[in-house]
Amino acid sequence: MSIIKNDFEKMNITKIKKAKNNKKLTMITAYDALFAKLFEEIADIILVGDSLNMSFAGKPDTLSATLEQMIYHTNAVCTGAKKAFVVLDMPFGTYINKDEALKNATKVYQETNAAAIKIEGGEDRADIVSHLTKNSIAVVGHIGLMPQYVRSEGGYKVRGKTNEDKEQLIRDAIAIEKAGAFCIVIEGVLSDVAKEISEAIFIPTIGIGAGKDTDGQVLVWSDMLGLFEEFKPKFVRHYLDGATLVKESVAKYKEDVQNKSFPSKDEEY
Ligand code: KIV
Repeated sequence: MSIIKNDFEKMNITKIKKAKNNKKLTMITAYDALFAKLFEEIADIILVGDSLNMSFAGKPDTLSATLEQMIYHTNAVCTGAKKAFVVLDMPFGTYINKDEALKNATKVYQETNAAAIKIEGGEDRADIVSHLTKNSIAVVGHIGLMPQYVRSEGGYKVRGKTNEDKEQLIRDAIAIEKAGAFCIVIEGVLSDVAKEISEAIFIPTIGIGAGKDTDGQVLVWSDMLGLFEEFKPKFVRHYLDGATLVKESVAKYKEDVQNKSFPSKDEEY
């Protein structure tokens, strides 16, 4: 398969908003310079997701990620992928009220080259989003299944199963749009509900586990490359059998070391 790079254009907020009804947006997570560089001229948006707390740090959920960790990883991503539109995911507890949110988002802008931040929450957090956007912070919303609510909700639950919940999700999206967010991640929502939400607002929606009718898609890089072996959520597609390839390569390396075929004459000084 050929990778067409010459249609790459560096994204900005105007282009992202204009993509609505014109082109599907591709967002992927990255946590380090190495992978960010591989993704930068292909994906439209790189998200330094707090999912790194699970797939990078091995924790059971995202809740213990800190702002310092997010800033560290975002700096690595921005260094590796200078042309990318990078979004930093604000970790749990860093936007509990308007003042904390602005203080922490300002720190992100001062200490990284992130173009925007992402925060989880709907109507209940619209005042926070509004305070941020009025103070020149670009915000990506995140509604539906919100991983930072996993303990208070008692698990990860697909949203939009009742009419009441559907109506709430639509209100959430409208409130976040009105508050000034320039796009919204919709996670773990029934696909026909995600479609209705996408049709109810004028900014792009980026889905994960939300069907094909959102304005774009996002996947966690280690999930889509098949590196995360514990389980495969229904919405993940494996584009690579990464875990098998990595393990086979390391096993081959070990074999070569043990049978003394590595290093060869060509590989020594
Ligand atoms: O943390 C993350 O990677 C995310 C995406 C799943 C949207 O929030």
